Amino acid sequence: MKKENILIIGGTSSMGLTTAQLALKKEYTVFVAGRNENKLNTTAKLLDVQTIKLDATSDEDFSKAFQTLPKLNHIIITVNAPGTASSIIETDVSTAKIAFERFWMNYRLLHIVKNYMNRIGSITLISGSSSKTPIKGYGFWGTLHGAIEALAKNAALELAPIRVNVVSPGGISLKPNNQLLEHFGTPEDVAQAIISLIENPAITNTKIDVDSGERQGDWNA
Ligand SMILES: NC(=O)c1ccc[n+]([C@@H]2O[C@H](COP(=O)([O-])OP(=O)(O)OC[C@H]3O[C@@H](n4cnc5c(N)ncnc54)[C@H](OP(=O)(O)O)[C@@H]3O)[C@@H](O)[C@H]2O)c1
Repeated sequence: MKKENILIIGGTSSMGLTTAQLALKKEYTVFVAGRNENKLNTTAKLLDVQTIKLDATSDEDFSKAFQTLPKLNHIIITVNAPGTASSIIETDVSTAKIAFERFWMNYRLLHIVKNYMNRIGSITLISGSSSKTPIKGYGFWGTLHGAIEALAKNAALELAPIRVNVVSPGGISLKPNNQLLEHFGTPEDVAQAIISLIENPAITNTKIDVDSGERQGDWNA
C-alpha cells in the first residue's frame, strides 16, 4: 500500500525532481507542481507522479491547485527565484524585489496551506548556506535565505501540529569552496535531508545544513 501524499512545488528539476524520485522509492504518492507544461510532461513520462500546473507567484493558482488535490501529508517547496542578484550594494531595490519573490512564494504557501493538509504532516522549505555566514558579494542571498528561515520558524509555531522545517544547501553540483568535507554537494544529498525531516515526527522548527562544511575548511579540489 502507498504511504502518505507528498506535493513537491518545483519538482520538475534538480533538488525537487530528485526528491520526487526518492519519495517514490519510499512508496509515497507524489504530486509535482511547476509552471512549465513541457517540464511537467517530461516529469510525468519519467516518473509515476501526478503533475499540477501552478505558478507559485499566483494566489489564484495556489487555491485552484489545492482544490483539485487530496488532503496532503507533506509539502516541499523548491522553487527558484526569478531574476538575478548579488551583493546588497550591487543589487538595486527593483532587482532585489524581483528576486525576493522567492520569499513570497514560500509565504504564499504557508499562508494558505492549513486547510489543505492533514493535521499531522510537514512542510519543508529550502534556504541556502549564505544565511549561515555572511559572504562578501552574496549579501542579497544571505538576506533572502535568512528571511526564509525566519518565516519557517514562525510558521512552525502558527501551524503546529503541522511541522515546518528548512533544508539549507551549500553549492550543489558546483565547485567546492573551502569545505571541511571532500564531497561535492548533490541533489541527492538535499533529497535525503528532506525525506529524513518528513519522516521524523519529532522534528519541527529545525534547519538542516547540507553544505559539506562550506567555507569552514581547506578542501577546494
Ligand atoms: N543549486 C544550488 O547550488 C543551490 C544552493 C542553495 C540554495 N539553492 C536554492 O534551492 C532551490 C532549488 O534549487 P534547484 O537547483 O533545484 O532549482 P531549479 O533546478 O532551478 O528548479 C526550480 C524548480 O522550481 C520550479 N519553479 C520555478 N519558479 C516557479 C514558480 N514561480 N512556480 C512554481 N514552480 C516554479 C521550476 O519549474 P518551472 O520553471 O517549470 O516552474 C523547477 O521545477 C532554489 O530556490 C535555489 O535558489 C540552490
